[in-house]
Amino acid sequence: MALHIREFREADRATLIALWETCGLTRPWNDPDADIDRIQVSRDATILFGTVDDAVVASVMVGHDGHRGWIYYLAVTLDRQARGHGREMMAEAELWLTARGAPKVQLMVRQENEDAADFYSALGYERQDVTVLGKWLTPSTEADGGFEMPRVHDPSGRQASGKHAARPRPASPRSARRPGRDGA
Ligand SMILES: CC(C)(COP(=O)(O)OP(=O)(O)OC[C@H]1O[C@@H](n2cnc3c(N)ncnc32)[C@H](O)[C@@H]1OP(=O)(O)O)[C@@H](O)C(=O)NCCC(=O)NCCS
Repeated sequence: MALHIREFREADRATLIALWETCGLTRPWNDPDADIDRIQVSRDATILFGTVDDAVVASVMVGHDGHRGWIYYLAVTLDRQARGHGREMMAEAELWLTARGAPKVQLMVRQENEDAADFYSALGYERQDVTVLGKWLTPSTEADGGFEMPRVHDPSGRQASGKHAARPRPASPRSARRPGRDGA
């Protein structure tokens, strides 16, 4: 059965969020409804939806920030994995970016998600020698676990040195009280 790929429609919202939850892509600090709302009002991003016989089987969020293309929320339902749907969704997202002039596509993979890293590697994606830094621009709420600098990983394994080297610091009263929004 062939995969049909189309853009997200409002009627897909609950199904899409359920797919992200089933595939372990949601985090307390990322409200999926808000993530969808932001895409809906953007001209530079979209959510592609994969269906087989009208049943939802896959999703990918893709956007162009004016310099690079970015991919988020790639998911294939458990019962439809390992049939090439992930590859097809990525190919469609890459076409979407190419049509908008993006010269390069990038994505972030959680360190513990080795299967996803191997999948992207099979598609020709290469580890980049960069450190991802993040800073929240919105106030925290108790619901998202509080406000704390995201933990980042340097794939090169290099440590900062000199006067800018990281020094151990006592936990602040705030970070001691609440777990952090420690991811992308
Ligand atoms: C990652 C995911 C999207 C892959 O989708 P999929 O439909 O199962 O993958 P495909 O069948 O299209 O696989 C494409 C290629 O990747 C390879 N691949 C997939 N998973 C792999 C793994 N764990 N290790 C090595 N290769 C892998 C396949 O062998 C295939 O190679 P081929 O085309 O040369 O035969 C799917 O497993 C998923 O939804 N995972 C949970 C959500 C997730 O982690 N998303 C990524 C967030 S960063």
